[in-house]
Amino acid sequence: MADQVAPAEAMAGAGSLLPPELTLLWLAQVSSTNDLALTETCPQGTVVAADSQEKGRGRLGRVWQSPPGQNLYFSLPFFPTLPPPNWGGFSLAVGAYLGQALHALLPDIGLKWPNDLYVEGKKIGGILLETRGHKLAAGIGVNVNQAVFPPALNASSLRLCTGKDWRRDELLAVLAAAAYEGLCTWNRADFTTVIGLWRPFDILLGKPVTARVNGSCRRGIARGVDGEGRLLIEDASGNLFSLHSGEATLATEQP
Ligand code: BTN
Repeated sequence: MADQVAPAEAMAGAGSLLPPELTLLWLAQVSSTNDLALTETCPQGTVVAADSQEKGRGRLGRVWQSPPGQNLYFSLPFFPTLPPPNWGGFSLAVGAYLGQALHALLPDIGLKWPNDLYVEGKKIGGILLETRGHKLAAGIGVNVNQAVFPPALNASSLRLCTGKDWRRDELLAVLAAAAYEGLCTWNRADFTTVIGLWRPFDILLGKPVTARVNGSCRRGIARGVDGEGRLLIEDASGNLFSLHSGEATLATEQP
């Protein structure tokens, strides 16, 4: 999968590498692949992928820089049959399956709750789950061949981690299939499988963290995720509290 860069023009060929239940919609440029995936006309089973995004977005209102010809930006539309209170776990499930798929290529891959992909303390990818009515879009950004990042982003890429360029078409097919499997597994309410996959990759486990929820800040030691994907944190008094959503940063990390 490494050593040869697939030019943007060859990316449409990634469709033939996908499993039969998935179809690639490859675009040179889009505002955000999540926007397209959330439109009514985009059916489940589509992999909406673009070479660049004009308005790529991350969690918590952040911008997701999306330059052309280097990385992967794709979204999977999905119609859950699970009730909405369980939807939060879809992003954890996608992260767990992406972690498993990437582990074969990057043995040091880790997951930072709720859904960041990390290698050696730097972020190499993220997941943005958005919903519209009965539909959700799991948007995935993975830094592949980008060699330079603004230091403030604390970001890295497969290239920087492995010292070689990667074929984005093959990577897209592998990662889209893995992410879709994660969505389907969570949707079957097979939470045990997802959480079991997630746990070995948990980079927060046992570390001091700061959790930010609805503007307030709580500190403690991360104690892993519970059976529904909530982050468990033990405070200084030994009380355990759980986080449904929001963000947890390592005590050593900039928010
Ligand atoms: C994060 O870590 O904050 C989540 C980043 C998600 C980025 C991806 S790129 C494809 C999809 N389209 C977007 O606009 N965002 C997601």
